[in-house]
Amino acid sequence: MCGIVGYVGKKNGVPMVMNGLRRLEYRGYDSAGISVQIDGKLEVTKQKGKIELLDRAITKSGIRGEVVIGHTRWATHGVPNKKNAHPHLSSDGNIALVHNGIIENYKSLRKYLQKENIKFKTKTDSEVLVNLIEHLYRGNLEEAVAEATSRIIGSYAIAVMAGSEPGKIVATRFGPPLIAGLAGDEFYIASDVAAILEFTKDVIYIDDGELAIVTGDGVKIIDSNNLPVTKEVKKILWDIGSIEKGGYEHFMLKEINEQCETLRDAMRGRLDPKNGTAKLGGLLDYVHTIESASQFYITACGTSYHAAMIGESVIESMAGIPVEVEYASEFRYKDPIIDQNTVVLAISQSGETADTLAAIKMAKKKGATVLGICNVVGSSIARETDGGVYIHAGPEIGVASTKAFTSQVTVLILLAQLLGRRKNLTLASGKKFVSDMSRLPDIVQSVLDSSGLIKKIAEKFKHADNFLYLGRGFNYPVALEGALKLKEISYIHAEGYPAAEIKHGPIALIDEKMPVVVIAPQDKTYDKVINNIEQVKARNGSVIAIATEGDKEIGKIADWVIPIPKVESHFLPIVAVIPLQLLAYYIAILRGCNVDQPRNLAKSVTVE
Ligand code: G6P
Repeated sequence: MCGIVGYVGKKNGVPMVMNGLRRLEYRGYDSAGISVQIDGKLEVTKQKGKIELLDRAITKSGIRGEVVIGHTRWATHGVPNKKNAHPHLSSDGNIALVHNGIIENYKSLRKYLQKENIKFKTKTDSEVLVNLIEHLYRGNLEEAVAEATSRIIGSYAIAVMAGSEPGKIVATRFGPPLIAGLAGDEFYIASDVAAILEFTKDVIYIDDGELAIVTGDGVKIIDSNNLPVTKEVKKILWDIGSIEKGGYEHFMLKEINEQCETLRDAMRGRLDPKNGTAKLGGLLDYVHTIESASQFYITACGTSYHAAMIGESVIESMAGIPVEVEYASEFRYKDPIIDQNTVVLAISQSGETADTLAAIKMAKKKGATVLGICNVVGSSIARETDGGVYIHAGPEIGVASTKAFTSQVTVLILLAQLLGRRKNLTLASGKKFVSDMSRLPDIVQSVLDSSGLIKKIAEKFKHADNFLYLGRGFNYPVALEGALKLKEISYIHAEGYPAAEIKHGPIALIDEKMPVVVIAPQDKTYDKVINNIEQVKARNGSVIAIATEGDKEIGKIADWVIPIPKVESHFLPIVAVIPLQLLAYYIAILRGCNVDQPRNLAKSVTVE
């Protein structure tokens, strides 16, 4: 979604801000722009479409300056066009603003400002905010920003500057993330670490309601009572290579191929072979709370929701603890049964998904213990939860989540193992489980190494209009995830179903044009899944089966078989999803789609 970058320093900040905007492209956007302070005035350049177009316009004008703000916009209010792109200027041209989030009471504020003779050029909520700041401006930008934000309802991360106050950017947030970066005598504001990682690893996380005043002298933070706050400077552990393609054609392919390593990182120091259990430091104090909880919910969105579904199955099967899984967007509005004895576990790669964040805030308010599984260190969900676990997958840039999914599932299996060992799982079975789990990265690597066959299958089915994905038990969420990957990046309509459910509807769709991907490893439902495949074949559907290596039988009925190594059934989702990620990737590439930035999608969904 929208991205913010700002620079204050002694050099020309335009290249730094443009670089930052390029680094934010992965989040999804439809227009971009920058504003530069020049001799007490603000120059704005914006473009609809790709950063490349903005770059051309900037190169042509040769604009430069030492105080710069920039933005990538993902349209919410108003269509994606040049006029609606940020930065927005106030009607007198003195104030420029970039904004992530949504101002809910913008209509009433707009009416009020119009009565005060302020003229608007767009219908956006962000232009209302910049004009409100202008209206309240009495020569001190931070005071005007503080006053304006006290009058708005909604979510925001903003960076603002005034022509009349050279050398200064004021930034604040409520909801969407915002950080300040320190690099000697250069200072940055950004919505995402990736935007400034090339220039600094020293950052300050700005908290809700805090206001940052960035000048050539440094970053001053004040709280909502106008009192200075001493903030800790945190070191970012990601390196620049982790946000570059590293020789791969796309981030998504790089991230798929990183999974052997990311699984190792998710397990590092967490397997306890001696006691046949797992160690999750961030949940240590909450294990008993989970065990004695009246309700244990897992909530998430998108791919993280599919990981949550697998979490439900593995925790119930290994630890016998009942789990309810809820879409965060539904959970927050459905009056769930929550009290002081409830535990809510939120799963989020970005740690910024607005619905997930809102769901945990709601649960917290009702007294629940709130835990998290996140990838991005210092993210809002990580900070909002009582305890939790990082998956340590490194930055995920491709919009379609891949490595974060397998790492989330890994952490959930570790949690199930930990809870299970405290209940019924014997030491011997625990030891075997831990030993099997430690071999998973190599198994995943062997699946990755067999991508040639998947490319061939992609070539065969690249023109299909629809796909069905079927799985049972632990593999039903994998079917959902496979279908989601395909539709996200190739725009082919795809649906995931529990395999046996096809006879209650989807079978009506099956004909010779319908490819059906069936996850059919030799587990306890294998025979039933074979029956389901027979039903598809009887209607002339083409079957692509993900099957256990060495399974000779399935080759007799399926059209294509993608073999995966035999693993303990709890690990199947991690192994079986790899070919589905690759299949979606290759089909999308063959259809000429932009896999890293699929149309209309955003990496981090910070609006509800
Ligand atoms: C967006 C992304 C998905 C992601 C979902 C949830 O839709 O495109 O890849 O699964 O948000 O994101 P989260 O960061 O909370 O896991």
